[in-house]
Amino acid sequence: MKTFTKDIWISKALYDQEEKDAVMRVLDSGWLGIGKESTRFEQSMAQYIGVNHAMFVNSGSSALLLGLKSLNLSPGAEVITCAAGFPSTMSPILHCGLMPVLVDCELDTYNIDPIEIEKAVTPKTEAIVFAHATGNPCNMEALKPILSRYLSIEDACDTLGARYKDRMIGSFGTVSALSFFASHHITAAGGGGMALTNDERMMTDMFSLRDWGKRYVQPGYYQRNFSAYDTDVDGIPYDVSYSYDTVGYNMKLIEIGAAFVNEQFKRLPAFVEKRNKNHAYFMKHFFEEKKYERFFIPPRVYPNHTPSWFFFVFILQDGVSFTRKQFGTYLEKHGIHTRPFFAGNIIRQLALRNASFRVSGSLANADKLMRDAIMIGVHPGLTDENLTFVTDTVDSFLEGK
Ligand SMILES: Cc1ncc(COP(=O)(O)O)c(C=O)c1O
Repeated sequence: MKTFTKDIWISKALYDQEEKDAVMRVLDSGWLGIGKESTRFEQSMAQYIGVNHAMFVNSGSSALLLGLKSLNLSPGAEVITCAAGFPSTMSPILHCGLMPVLVDCELDTYNIDPIEIEKAVTPKTEAIVFAHATGNPCNMEALKPILSRYLSIEDACDTLGARYKDRMIGSFGTVSALSFFASHHITAAGGGGMALTNDERMMTDMFSLRDWGKRYVQPGYYQRNFSAYDTDVDGIPYDVSYSYDTVGYNMKLIEIGAAFVNEQFKRLPAFVEKRNKNHAYFMKHFFEEKKYERFFIPPRVYPNHTPSWFFFVFILQDGVSFTRKQFGTYLEKHGIHTRPFFAGNIIRQLALRNASFRVSGSLANADKLMRDAIMIGVHPGLTDENLTFVTDTVDSFLEGK
């Protein structure tokens, strides 16, 4: 086996002179707050996903929180979500004073099990939060009838570029969220997120919440440089930009990020293609050529669903002669970076020790992912040599097992 000289990262942002030039254009313009670049990105992303409104924010987690707030659910209402996944799919439910109802995932898609959603429904159920984990779309065939009955938040933070039939993932939730954190499919210079919706009222509410609570103003508003005392606050002529309709936050991103991600967006089709190619290479090697089903549970993709892979996930079969820790340590020692399956079964994390939530049914699959899943990168920066090195390293670990 080859001696390894370079780390094989779990994710890597790929950018070039175009992104650097875009950032410099903003720096040279003298205005660094959100402006034309942000508006352009919002318009591009709304069109790409196929929704009416897109709002640029500072993270996917912020988009999830603003989305859930904008649903205006009853205090204490039940919101069904998956026990396995990233914490900020679940934490906005608690931040909004609602009751998370945690259900199990399907083991081989890593996504919420629609059958478990049906079982968890009560008269208090008002919304569903569902994430497409690691780039693999949820079973949309089964989810769609459920989504027609409830409000929903779609967490597409891991899954930009994926589709169900001809429709983009990210267009199914009442509000959907994307992430442009440094490790994601495209990045807004290290961070960023987006909230998407077809609902105008929700979009204007989210805008207000994002911008300190201020009254909604049309795109382009930030390009003006004067105050107009043409609105009314409690009978006092006032500037609209200092008229506050909600108790808000500041969740805007800076314009440098928007300029950077507008260039990244041009690269998205090529990035998605390479991610899927890398994933297919691992699938072919591990499951077609080597028949490693005896060691690992192969990932499952539903028919008519097109992933945009974020990671490759190994799940150890029960009873194999090695542990996840031994496998992970071996890969790490050879320079192949790994991750567990996000928070695993979230109810086992300290964060939920004193929180109010309800569990519906068994969380056996979430537990299995927490104990036995391990993820490696499929990012577009991986070379053919890197891919072969990964498969050689896994093969050498499994030799004789
Ligand atoms: C499924 C999922 N949801 C939400 C997030 C949070 O996104 P951000 O880091 O932009 O807040 C992540 C982050 O990786 C994620 O994987």
